[in-house]
Amino acid sequence: MSPTPEKAARADAARAHAGGRAAAGDPGSARAVAALTVENLEVIYDQVILVLRGLSLEVPAGEIVALLGSNGAGKSTTLKAIAGLLPTEHGEITDGSVRLDGQDITRMDAAARVRRGLALVMEGRRVFVHLTVHENLVAGGYTRGARAGYERVYEFLPVLAGLRSRVAGYLSGGEQQMLAIGRALMSDPRLLLLDEPSLGLAPRLVDEVFGVIQRLNTELGLTALLVEQNARRALAVAHRGYVMEAGRIVLEGAAADLADNPDVKEFYLGLGDAGARRRYRDVKHYKRRKRWL
Ligand SMILES: Nc1ncnc2c1ncn2[C@@H]1O[C@H](COP(=O)(O)OP(=O)(O)OP(=O)(O)O)[C@@H](O)[C@H]1O
Ligand SMILES: [Mg+2]
Repeated sequence: MSPTPEKAARADAARAHAGGRAAAGDPGSARAVAALTVENLEVIYDQVILVLRGLSLEVPAGEIVALLGSNGAGKSTTLKAIAGLLPTEHGEITDGSVRLDGQDITRMDAAARVRRGLALVMEGRRVFVHLTVHENLVAGGYTRGARAGYERVYEFLPVLAGLRSRVAGYLSGGEQQMLAIGRALMSDPRLLLLDEPSLGLAPRLVDEVFGVIQRLNTELGLTALLVEQNARRALAVAHRGYVMEAGRIVLEGAAADLADNPDVKEFYLGLGDAGARRRYRDVKHYKRRKRWL
């Protein structure tokens, strides 16, 4: 399937992720420790609005995992819960756990998660509009202090090098998205969470953004959890995927299998022959996965 260099990069990434901890881990366990494990996560906003209802997912080291779902399913909430950003939105994890490389980070603050190798590119390509491209990158690297490796980011995203003294607010949507990704890379993450990076971009720029996502994985060896409404493109770059609805996972599998799944085709890829768009649960009742229960 993949050419050799990609496989090698993935294997390298898996090794980098495994680190000492997994290598020294339970010798009886055949499974490697996943980069990210979310178990039975429950999230409530404003103490009453239940948004995630026992969501479980896993992101193996060195892979891109797509998280698909319709508007309001809870995709962004899932990423914010993983990144530790719920408190700023009056949200709270009320049950379940988030583990990064096997370590429980459920109660850790956002900055501590960044120091442990996690970075989030938020929905809506948030950049500091009054700062230059370079200043945005420097701001993104604050957790690493003086060691911030912006040259590495410019090398990976040469388009940013050409724009380094431009004010971010005047960049095009695609350029701002590259900057948002570049800024996340400044903390030198191993696991990148991406929230709808292609949203609202012209088709050519969508190509560029997905190209960058693939290179993040193959060239930098990053593991990624990719939230996208563009299911076709997301499944084309991902190894595995999950479909969520109303705060739960309703379907999961290898990316190629999901892309081939008739329900996914109908509801997310627009390839079905039924004219009306219906929700998953209207046609099928998926049993909750038993794995974590
Ligand atoms: N800060 C908040 N306070 C209260 N409710 C919220 C908050 N943020 C999100 N919600 C609600 O939680 C649910 C899930 O929202 P979320 O943004 O996670 O969905 P999403 O899958 O990312 O949707 P979209 O595809 O539109 O981005 C929605 O019903 C939303 O209204
Ligand atoms: Mg969202």
